[in-house]
Amino acid sequence: MARKLILDCDTGTDDAVAIMLAALHPDLELLGVATVNGNVEVARCTNNSLRTLDWIGRGDIPVYEGLAKPIVRSDFPVPRALKRDAKVHLATLPFPEARSIKQPLSAPEYLVHTFAKSPGEIVLVAVGPLSNLAAATALDPAFAGNVSELIIMGGAIDKSNITPSAEFNIWADPEAAAVVMEAAFPKITLVPLDATHQALISLDQCAQLRALGTNAGEAAAQLVEFRIGGYEANQPTGVPQTAPVHDAVCIAALVDPQVIDTKFLNVVIETRGEYTMGRTVVDHEKRTTRAPNCHVALNADRARFFDMLMTTFAKRTT
Ligand code: BDR
Ligand code: CA
Repeated sequence: MARKLILDCDTGTDDAVAIMLAALHPDLELLGVATVNGNVEVARCTNNSLRTLDWIGRGDIPVYEGLAKPIVRSDFPVPRALKRDAKVHLATLPFPEARSIKQPLSAPEYLVHTFAKSPGEIVLVAVGPLSNLAAATALDPAFAGNVSELIIMGGAIDKSNITPSAEFNIWADPEAAAVVMEAAFPKITLVPLDATHQALISLDQCAQLRALGTNAGEAAAQLVEFRIGGYEANQPTGVPQTAPVHDAVCIAALVDPQVIDTKFLNVVIETRGEYTMGRTVVDHEKRTTRAPNCHVALNADRARFFDMLMTTFAKRTT
């Protein structure tokens, strides 16, 4: 039976690849997409999600718009992200105007209601700032306990991408990330930059995706090529002509856990440090007696990840 999931994202180029993988993989049933302020303003994230789903013939999957701001901070202007990521993300994804429209319910309400109706049956994959999840936790203290499993793209151990200490999704709403880490989710898997940077996609692989001749293959090729241009210009990966596609790695790991290697470790979020705000403090050397709370991905399998993209996007859906 296909695994039911909800994807919470800030669509974004790599989020769009995650949406396509979740919507098209035969072992998954994507129930809905929730959007959150992040890579671009939330209204753009919503529009980008609708465009992506329509482009691959999955306009039947509902999209719910979520928080336009972090839960506490007022100092996260979206243009900061836009400027930093102008070469990796796009304000508007290059697909035709969406025909579908967003749902009237807000994303946190949708999350609360849907998980309450089917406790323990649906996986939540969060690949943007964690604002909607924190808001859902505030709306319903039982929310976290109703989620069968939470997979988060976020954080970093040795790497970083927004400050020397922090990864974007956690940095963008650190208080929300702290709420999520302390909530009663039965299982949390954290997929940090250290893992996603091992599942790089190259320009040659983009050509293979395009050669599939499907809408999803063409879209993935176009989005990842754009990312590669941005990484080459601003933050080279160390492997020429490649880029990570962070968010899609979480979906691949849900289908095939062997895509990542995890260790069960304690993770807390730094919300106050002058230089370290938004850092995921991962106790991988067991320096404290804090109990493990998170399955942290330390590695990712590049070949398995790419094979899954190829086989999933090969099927014609439009
Ligand atoms: C994360 O931040 C965003 O830019 C990406 O979509 C991804 O979710 C990587 O740090
Ligand atoms: Ca994202």
